[in-house]
Amino acid sequence: MLLVTGVSGALGSLVAARLAGRDDVVLGTRAAEATRTAEVTRTADATRAGLPGTRRVDFDAPGTLPEAFAGVDTLLLVSAGYGEDDTVVARHEAAISAAERAGVRHVVYTSLSGDGDHLTYALAHRWTERRLRRSATLDWTILRNGLYAEFLTWIAAPDAENRITGPLGEGRLAAVARADLADVAVAVATDPAAHRNRVYELVGERPLGGADLAAALGATYAPGSLADARAAVAASGAVPFQVPMLASTYSAIAHGFLDGTGVESDLRALLGGREPLDALNVFVKAVRER
Ligand SMILES: NC(=O)c1ccc[n+]([C@@H]2O[C@H](COP(=O)([O-])OP(=O)(O)OC[C@H]3O[C@@H](n4cnc5c(N)ncnc54)[C@H](OP(=O)(O)O)[C@@H]3O)[C@@H](O)[C@H]2O)c1
Repeated sequence: MLLVTGVSGALGSLVAARLAGRDDVVLGTRAAEATRTAEVTRTADATRAGLPGTRRVDFDAPGTLPEAFAGVDTLLLVSAGYGEDDTVVARHEAAISAAERAGVRHVVYTSLSGDGDHLTYALAHRWTERRLRRSATLDWTILRNGLYAEFLTWIAAPDAENRITGPLGEGRLAAVARADLADVAVAVATDPAAHRNRVYELVGERPLGGADLAAALGATYAPGSLADARAAVAASGAVPFQVPMLASTYSAIAHGFLDGTGVESDLRALLGGREPLDALNVFVKAVRER
């Protein structure tokens, strides 16, 4: 049985939708609709949607995980980001040690692309990769996801005057559509033996810069300074860890670390040879839907 965690999130929900109709899959989430016990049930909504059964999975409640992971062979561990390193590492440690104790055979982990090492949030991903490699019992697959095309709407959406002011400089991002990453996660997690102890780099093929984004939207690209962006994020009500998180993202893009140069992306191969979705179209659609 395959258990997918984080299915109320943007990536996890795309994965869950792709697994509809399968009786060898259960969906895990902290969401209130999930069952209070780990007993496999089908919520009314899930049944209507043809989705697999749902279990409550919350890495902040480690005591619940033995039940949640009972009978699971493969765990698709969607990273539980958005927190200080100690918070995220504690969540992932709870998940992996519970998987080991429950007899899970294989963990597929959604990590961060190797070119993202300069990002403040890389540390928790690399810690988790190392933890999996050192496991005495688990097989693993690391999906090193590039930054989402949709994520660009957080850092490079036009302002009220139709100007993109995010400090991307002349840098570009090899962004990737979440939907493609969901397709890859499903392909790997439903055939884990074929991907045993492999690390896959999943970055886009067509890097996008601020000028590209602006042109596609009929906007102006007027990048500000990193200091201005940091001050604006801090003033926006962001919690403290988010300020260096976003500043490091701008800086890594602006200084050419995330444009895909030198990365041998496994994306197309794991999409079965099909062309990845156009990241620029995905960005434009996401901006219009905001
Ligand atoms: N590559 C990128 O551009 C990028 C951008 C943003 C984030 N990420 C990372 O990729 C992950 C998935 O991305 P996303 O777009 O789906 O983010 P999202 O929509 O914000 O979802 C966050 C995910 O974290 C899970 N989560 C949080 N706390 C948890 C806990 N205590 N126990 C179990 N699960 C927990 C949530 O699961 P439930 O709510 O269902 O329990 C949800 O799947 C993020 O968590 C983050 O680590 C990547």
